[in-house]
Formats: sequence, C-alpha cells, structure tokens
Amino acid sequence: MRKQKHELMAYKGKQQIAMITAYDAWSAGLVDRYVDIILVGDSLGMVVQGNDSTLPVTLDEIIYHGKLVSRANQSAFLVVDMPFMTYHISIEQTMLNAARIMKETCAQAVKLEGGKSICPEVKALTQAGIPVFGHLGLTPQSLHQLGGWQKQAKTQEQQTTLMEDAKALVNAGICFLILENIPHDFAKQVTQELPIPTIGIGAGADTDGQVQVFHDLFHLNPDFLPRHATVQAHLGEAMQEALQSYQEKVKAKEILSK
Ligand code: KIV
Repeated sequence: MRKQKHELMAYKGKQQIAMITAYDAWSAGLVDRYVDIILVGDSLGMVVQGNDSTLPVTLDEIIYHGKLVSRANQSAFLVVDMPFMTYHISIEQTMLNAARIMKETCAQAVKLEGGKSICPEVKALTQAGIPVFGHLGLTPQSLHQLGGWQKQAKTQEQQTTLMEDAKALVNAGICFLILENIPHDFAKQVTQELPIPTIGIGAGADTDGQVQVFHDLFHLNPDFLPRHATVQAHLGEAMQEALQSYQEKVKAKEILSK
C-alpha cells in the first residue's frame, strides 16, 4: 500500500521526507522503496523531452508519464505536477484538468506553482478532496516572468511576499510546500513558521525534506548539472565510457550477439 498524506505530514519535526522525480515505470520501480514521495514533475519537459524549459509540457503528456510511473509505484506517495496554464484560466478548467490527472494516473495529489493568486484554485481542489502541494521560490513555469533560473527571495521585501504567499496557500489547504532555490536561512524560517512540511531543493538543510530531479541525482547528463543538484553517482560519465567500449568492441568484432 502507498504511503498516505497524513502519515507523511506527521513526519514534520520528527523525520525528514525524501522525495524524487520519476517519469517512467523503470525509474519509478527503482526509486519507490527508497523515497517517501515520487513526483511526476514537469521537469520532464527538460530532462526527458529535451526542451529548455518546463513550459511546453501538456496535460496529456504529464498524464502519460503519470500512468507509466503509477504502474510501478507501490509504496511511495504519488504526486503529479499540473503543467503550465492548466490551472490559470478558470477554476472550472482547473478542476477538470486535476480530475483527469487524479483519475487517469491514480495520483494521490497534484502540485501547483504560485502564491496568493492561485489560492481560489487550491481551495476548490482541496474542497473536492484533491490534496495539493504548493511550490514557491524559483517556480520554473514563471521562468520568463522571473527572468532566469537565479535564486529567489533574496531581499527582505521578496521574503515578506513569499512568507505571505506560503501562509495564504496553507490557509487555502495545501498539505506540503516545495521551496525551490531560496536563501537557506529564509527556508528555515518558512519551515519554522508553517504548520505543514516544507520540502526543499536548493533551499538548505533545514526544510522538512528534500526533493531532487532523478536525472540530476545521478548526473545522467554529463554536460549539464544544475547548482542545486545533490549528485549521488556520476552515471552519465559511466554510461559514456560503457558506450565507447561497446563501440570499440563492435568495430573490432569483439562483440557478437548470441
Ligand atoms: O518538476 C519538477 O521536477 C519539480 C521539482 C524540481 C520540485 O517541480
């Protein structure tokens, strides 16, 4: 049986939450027993689809990947991102889109980026029984508004706004809050002031948990590594070496299939 929302929310102040992204049945099967939460992140737009942002990901695409992950996900809690512009047009459309994600992927929650402005949507979703993860700080769907991938909430004024957004989201009903790329001491302060668990990425050690993108954790792309990656193994390089060895052996007629 998969972990449940309340079980994980009760980790706050007791144990850290481990979360990682997965995009297919193979990666989900691999990470399932080692993490508390699996996220089918719209980061798939970059690490799987090869786009330079998460913006192109469609609702159908996230549902497709959610289905693949769900097939292999037995014990971790499953949350699926709502892609760019699938929750901004109207509450009605947000509900229909979230309903498709929940029904078709068997997710246990959806994740939305943004603060006060999305609280009506968050409220409607939670009232309909759909758990919601919030996401503040560097919110990749607002890349063009933010003007790049730089750290957020660096000034006092920006920190006040983020804290207000966080509290408004909690009042609207979110159960977890992702904090991405914000100053570490400020992430600690947000974590202390909120009654729900925060999960950080590039936000220091004092959040209630950590989330990483699968491809970054294993440094699968030897040519690119975001600053906030906490690499556990450099598998991209190892794969390149293995491929080179395969190529050399085939050319030298040393490898023949049976
Ligand atoms: O899409 C994603 O992978 C995310 C994580 C970085 C939190 O939102």
